[in-house]
Amino acid sequence: MNCQVKQGDINKEATEVLVLGGFEDEKTLPKDYQSLDKALGGQLQELRKSGEFTGKNQQAVLIHTRKALPAKRILFMGLGKKKEVTLDRVRQAMGTACKQVKKTGAQTFSAPLLGTEALHVSPSDLAQAMVEGAILGGYQFNQYRSDNGNGAKEVRSITLLAHTANQLSAMKTGAKRGEASAQATSLARDLSNHPANVMTPTRVAQEAKKITKEGKVKLTVLERKDQEKLGMGGMIGVSQGSQEPPKFIILEYSGGKKNDAPIVLVGKTVTFDSGGISLKPSENMEQMKADMTGGAEVLGAVRAAARLKLPINLVGILPTVENMPGGRATKPGDILNMLNGKTVEVQNTDAEGRLILADGLSYATRLKPKCVVDVATLTGACVVALGQFAIGMLGNDDRLKAELKKAGEQAGERVWEMPLWDEYFEQLKSDVADMRNIGGRGGGMITAGMFLSKFVGDYPWVHLDIASTDWSVSERPYVCKGPTAIGTRLLVQFLINRAGHS
Ligand code: BES
Ligand code: MN
Ligand code: ZN
Repeated sequence: MNCQVKQGDINKEATEVLVLGGFEDEKTLPKDYQSLDKALGGQLQELRKSGEFTGKNQQAVLIHTRKALPAKRILFMGLGKKKEVTLDRVRQAMGTACKQVKKTGAQTFSAPLLGTEALHVSPSDLAQAMVEGAILGGYQFNQYRSDNGNGAKEVRSITLLAHTANQLSAMKTGAKRGEASAQATSLARDLSNHPANVMTPTRVAQEAKKITKEGKVKLTVLERKDQEKLGMGGMIGVSQGSQEPPKFIILEYSGGKKNDAPIVLVGKTVTFDSGGISLKPSENMEQMKADMTGGAEVLGAVRAAARLKLPINLVGILPTVENMPGGRATKPGDILNMLNGKTVEVQNTDAEGRLILADGLSYATRLKPKCVVDVATLTGACVVALGQFAIGMLGNDDRLKAELKKAGEQAGERVWEMPLWDEYFEQLKSDVADMRNIGGRGGGMITAGMFLSKFVGDYPWVHLDIASTDWSVSERPYVCKGPTAIGTRLLVQFLINRAGHS
């Protein structure tokens, strides 16, 4: 989807659909809409009076203008009560609007900034959110349907209308950010949607290669023999039951000064998690094709940083494997020698994410990073604790945690902190090695984070467990059913914020 911003007037905008917003507790039409309503013979006011449009959140009413206006149709979107309006509500309204537009068969629509009377945000942030909502609401994955999803048409372009020249430039900045951020999410959704017979570690490396087209992005792939030489026991141990060769993927974006320490993102990339010898039950196992979402999000975030030319140095690390049972697979009780010299007794081969992330985090230490954020579909315990709407966060640095918390709120992809207390390490003690890879029944998300912390060097670090949010059981305004790639925009926003501060 293509996004434009121009200075314009809703009364004069020639478009297939003009999207407008209304609040639930608003009796009269806002001033901005009055002349338009006059041209329509008072139809909007009438919809209000009759109760057909109450302004309830997510309500959508479509009318044809029948040449009373240059716009062919008006889509009146409810934004809910003024007091309750948030940036995310606007994102949702745009997502719903995009789906409604698609139903009409139209492929373009225009909208002025929505919710401005109630939101105290900059035109740039609002434009960003609107673009994100529209692009992500229109997202579809039809690549494997011979009917191309019932011939569902895509919305090709949206136009945001600015009041003033001043607003115009701010909105352009925001729209660009929104575009990069939503495209990053779409990329991550695509990668996680592809089945595991297609999206193998080798294919992930090819996808990473595509990102080098952005400029200032360099790719290094460590093959199995390189991993062996370096002593990446986690990578080797998890992948050795699979026929697919493991790839340790490193994507570097150099937008900052030469000697600036990099921000490092590490994403769990398990292209399929069968559990290995500790085989998972078959119910919902197909969802484990999305156990690479962390890595997919990191790829998306690096691409967005490059597209936005952010003045930062950034390294994305994707430890990429397939976790399968097999004659050569790691067995419960096997001991692995990890990249940082520590030994791990594998008591459950299904706790594989932490093993490959451990090598990723140890590798990150060598880059002398400014900070490290890892993102992973790590534990079922995260799903139990947080349900579908919060990302689990653990980390060793209050400032970095606060930054991610803020970015999460801005992006509408919120995090919730869990404790990372030494006491929990008790559960990870092994009789034969430095530690074991499972922590027993209680606090599964925490013991997984605790495990990772043993491979973290002397740098600020945050771990995000996205097992809760990565798969949606239902369609939401701008979140599709299935792989959601939630966390991508949080990462992108974090990088945008960082770029502004450095
Ligand atoms: N990829 C799974 C975690 C997961 C579960 C992600 C559900 C998304 C939805 C991870 O590798 C895993 O299997 N974790 C185990 C760890 C356990 C054996 C300690 C789990 O949570 O059951
Ligand atoms: Mn697993
Ligand atoms: Zn897994």
